[in-house]
Amino acid sequence: MASTRAAIFLAALICGAVAATGEVQPNGLSLGFHDNSCPILPYIVKLFVKVAFKKDAGIAPALIRILFHDCFPQGCDGSLVDDIRAAAHAACGPVVSCTDILALATRDALVEAGGPSYDLPLGRRDALAPAPLNLVITLPAPSLNATALISSFGGRGLSVTDLVALSGAHTFGISHCNSFRNRFTPETDTDPAIDPDFAAKLKAKCDGDVPAGTVNQTLDVRTPNKFDNKYYFDLVAKQGLFKSDQGLIVDSATNRTAIRFALNQKAFFDQFALSMVKMSQMDVLTGTQGEIRLSCTVPNKPAAGIETVVAATDDEDEGLATDM
Ligand code: HEM
Ligand SMILES: *[C@@H]1O[C@H](CO)[C@@H](O)[C@H](O)[C@H]1NC(C)=O
Ligand SMILES: *[C@@H]1O[C@H](CO)[C@@H](O)[C@H](O)[C@H]1NC(C)=O
Ligand SMILES: *[C@@H]1O[C@H](CO)[C@@H](O)[C@H](O)[C@H]1NC(C)=O
Repeated sequence: MASTRAAIFLAALICGAVAATGEVQPNGLSLGFHDNSCPILPYIVKLFVKVAFKKDAGIAPALIRILFHDCFPQGCDGSLVDDIRAAAHAACGPVVSCTDILALATRDALVEAGGPSYDLPLGRRDALAPAPLNLVITLPAPSLNATALISSFGGRGLSVTDLVALSGAHTFGISHCNSFRNRFTPETDTDPAIDPDFAAKLKAKCDGDVPAGTVNQTLDVRTPNKFDNKYYFDLVAKQGLFKSDQGLIVDSATNRTAIRFALNQKAFFDQFALSMVKMSQMDVLTGTQGEIRLSCTVPNKPAAGIETVVAATDDEDEGLATDM
């Protein structure tokens, strides 16, 4: 009797859990999307990310940057993501998209680096073509002030709070001199002000950037590889690397939030998690839209225009291309 009741209780618990995670959002994503189609998926992703992170902690900032790139324009890149896709497809068949894998791998890498975790609704599908150039150009420049950033993020449905929190991703990872040379060229930046000693160090480093692009600079000078709230300490100390970073602590529309995140890491983590879930759902394809890519770096079928060019320049394959 007791065991029957326990079994019923257990069944109710499991059904309840499935019902909760099976709920489909208006955009077509759901927490339990792969519960039946690929239950092992979260474990595969976590394992691959753990192993890759042990070898190179730089994969965490690299992934999160790809995700940001990928949310403004579409199209995804990265060999780690394709390795995970290959393993997931070997285990479950070609049912998991590269975009879902990127979202999951980024989340897990963030956790490896010390950041917050969050639940990710899944069910994304991959784009049929690489991102068009006009979308790539909408990525914000590091020379923008807070007003321009607010408008850029606003145009993509992201709030001022999202902007201040997501910029906190610059708490790890690296940059190159071209992205911040304007902080000391032609003279030390005053709008917004940069710590003069910090500017002098950056200048000396970039004077030695030969050949150009070989020098790298950590985005967060305090804890360069850790995901924490020290980025906001940098801003308070006028040691934010980009103009776009430093502006957040100066502008009256963003400074209160930036200071709150400097004072309270939990407040930053909670908001960062919310903003990441939001950013990971921008412009998603679901249902029968797009495709499940069989290689994350290219669409399954080349775009028609590209096919024509290949056929025209490659005599041997011309007949084959025409047959198809
Ligand atoms: C607010 C507007 C933003 C601007 C202007 C901006 C600009 C940049 C620039 C110029 C770089 C360095 C590129 C280089 O010199 O190699 C960079 C790196 C990076 N960005 Fe942003 N970014 C912004 C927002 C974001 C967001 C929203 C995220 C993610 C949530 C993000 C994550 C990163 C990471 C992790 C890196 C380091 C990448 C690595 O180490 O491989 N950025 N960003
Ligand atoms: C921000 O940048 C824009 C475009 O460069 C400029 O027109 C505006 O005056 C700037 N705003 C502030 C407050 O500096
Ligand atoms: C960044 O530069 C340092 C030397 O200053 C070098 O050891 C390191 O490998 C570089 N990192 C990357 C990712 O290029
Ligand atoms: C934010 O900036 C405004 C305008 O510069 C300033 O009056 C205000 O005191 C700042 N707030 C904080 C919390 O620093």
